[in-house]
Amino acid sequence: MPTPRVLSGIQPTADSFHLGNYLGAVRQWVALQETHDAFYCVVDLHAITMGHDPAVLRRRSRVAAAQLLGAGLDPKRCTIFVQSHVPEHAELFWVLSCLTGFGEASRMTQFKDKSAKAGAETASVGLFNYPILQAADILLYQTDQVPVGEDQRQHLELTRDLAQRFNHRFGETFVIPGPYIVKDVAKIADLQDPAIKMSKSASSPQGIVDVLEDPASIRRKITRAVTDMGTEIRADEEAKPGVTNLLRIYAALAGVSVADLERRYAGTGYGAFKKDLADLVVDALAPIRERTEEALADEAELDRVLAEGAARARDVAGRTMRLVRERVGFLPAR
Ligand code: TYM
Repeated sequence: MPTPRVLSGIQPTADSFHLGNYLGAVRQWVALQETHDAFYCVVDLHAITMGHDPAVLRRRSRVAAAQLLGAGLDPKRCTIFVQSHVPEHAELFWVLSCLTGFGEASRMTQFKDKSAKAGAETASVGLFNYPILQAADILLYQTDQVPVGEDQRQHLELTRDLAQRFNHRFGETFVIPGPYIVKDVAKIADLQDPAIKMSKSASSPQGIVDVLEDPASIRRKITRAVTDMGTEIRADEEAKPGVTNLLRIYAALAGVSVADLERRYAGTGYGAFKKDLADLVVDALAPIRERTEEALADEAELDRVLAEGAARARDVAGRTMRLVRERVGFLPAR
């Protein structure tokens, strides 16, 4: 049996990843590099779907790559690359877009949410196409599993449908990928509004903890996180969504179960619990921040890692694309 492959991506659309990105996705990526043939990309093509500034995009792409190293990805154990360095992504996107129904793409809830915000007239066609490009990212690498948060589930379903449709129409070509979604951390909530997910676009600054944030500010945000009626520290999604979210963050970072924490904090009240959680988050993020800063200090080395990653990625993506061109009926270019 060959080593199973994982691929995932993250957008360089903020100056830092947030705790939801880290717990829901990047932390799994770090673990999976030990057991899987792992490809991780900074999806800069996706990052231009909502309008952007070129200099900011360049900076954020490097900061994103540096944070992946900071979080513990090792370029010797996995392939880290920037999406735009591998032109096959855009090429496969086009082929897949010709297999995607207009209605099918119109039903993507992230597109509906984001285009509603931008206004139907101003939302770009790129935003509409976003999930099809994501499908191309995944299918190019013959990916077995895709480690992501819950908000990506619908895009993965589209990816599977497109892979099956292509295989059915043109012959077996793509591996059908499955989701790798870890239940308790798949939807980290906003600290101020536990009804919504922690999100760079929807959350207020008080609702988000950034991976690169300074410790004093992290402590303040956790201390002020909304908790629910009563004083009991107990997981209950309906009655106590705020406390439940904090318990999940705590359990994930401490490597214990929520039930253990409920026992440990029985009868203590929110104050001590939040203080311990703040210490835990600060201690978990400090080494990531330090290693990210180190990686950013040597830009030439960072760019070298990305170039090496792109070469490995192009090798795999190129093989898939040669097969796709032949299956679709494009004449060989001689
Ligand atoms: P992005 O950049 O929005 O988010 C990166 C990852 O973080 C997860 N995530 C969360 N997990 C738990 N709780 C949260 N509050 C939370 N917020 C974000 C996301 O689910 C994601 O896994 N479309 C993708 C990027 C992408 C991609 C791909 C992913 C492009 N191509 C191919 C996988 C495979 C996205 O917007 O991620």
